[in-house]
Amino acid sequence: MRTILVLNAKGGSGKTTLATNLAGYFASEGAKIALVDLDPQGSSLDWLSARPADRPKIAAVEGFTKGVRVPRSTEVVVMDAPSRTHDDQLATLVRRAQTIILPIVPSPIDIRAAQRFLGELRSLRNIVATDVKLATVANRVREGTLIANELEDYLYELKLPSGRKFPFMTVLRSSTNYLRAAERGLSIFEFAPVATAADREYWSPLTRWLQSPRSLRGS
Ligand SMILES: Nc1ncnc2c1ncn2[C@@H]1O[C@H](COP(=O)(O)OP(=O)(O)OP(=O)(O)O)[C@@H](O)[C@H]1O
Ligand SMILES: [Mg+2]
Repeated sequence: MRTILVLNAKGGSGKTTLATNLAGYFASEGAKIALVDLDPQGSSLDWLSARPADRPKIAAVEGFTKGVRVPRSTEVVVMDAPSRTHDDQLATLVRRAQTIILPIVPSPIDIRAAQRFLGELRSLRNIVATDVKLATVANRVREGTLIANELEDYLYELKLPSGRKFPFMTVLRSSTNYLRAAERGLSIFEFAPVATAADREYWSPLTRWLQSPRSLRGS
C-alpha cells in the first residue's frame, strides 16, 4: 500500500488542495484510493461529500477522532494533515508515511515558517529514525513575482542533512481551477483537459515522482 502524507505546520499552505487533487488524480488513473482527513476542520471530508456519485470512488476516512483504518483493498492512501500537531502526533504521522509532500506558498511569513518546520522535521527524523521521502512543492504561485522567485531559489537550494538536494518537485500556480475543483468535489484532472491543461502540466513532475521508486522509503 502506498502512503502519501501532505504536511506543513503553516495554515493555508495548500495541504487540502494537494491531498484532494492527488486523491482525484490516482482515482482517475483507476487506483483504489483512501483519503484520510487528519484535520478536525474536515475539509477533505467536505470535498468528498461534494463529490459526484458518477466519479471514480475515493474512500473517506475520518482520522482525527479515531485510529486510521482504510478499506483492505486500498492501493493508495493520501493523508491530509492538520496545521497544528504536537510532537508525538507529528512523529506518528511521519512514521506512518512513505512519502511526505510539503506545500509552501510564496510569502515571507510562510517561507520563514517552513524553514522552522523543516528544522523540526529534521530533528524528529533523528528521533524516529525514519527514511521517509520528503519533497517540497511551491503552491499558489503568481509567476514572475519577486517573492515567487525567492521561494523557488530557497526550495531549489534546500539541502538534506546528508548534503543531498532536498527534492523540489514543482511550482503550482495560483489558479481559479483549484477553487472550482474544490467546490465540486473534483480534482483538476477531472475537468475537460483543455480547461486545466496548463495546471496538469505543472503537476506532472510530482505525479511522475510519486509513481517512481525514488519517492519510496529505502531508495
Ligand atoms: N494553487 C492554488 N490556486 C488557487 N487557490 C489555492 C491554491 N492552493 C490553495 N488554494 C486556496 O487557498 C486556500 C487554502 O488552501 P488549503 O485549504 O488547501 O490549505 P491547507 O494547508 O489545507 O489549510 P489548513 O491549514 O487550514 O488546513 C483555500 O481556499 C484553497 O482553495
Ligand atoms: Mg487543510
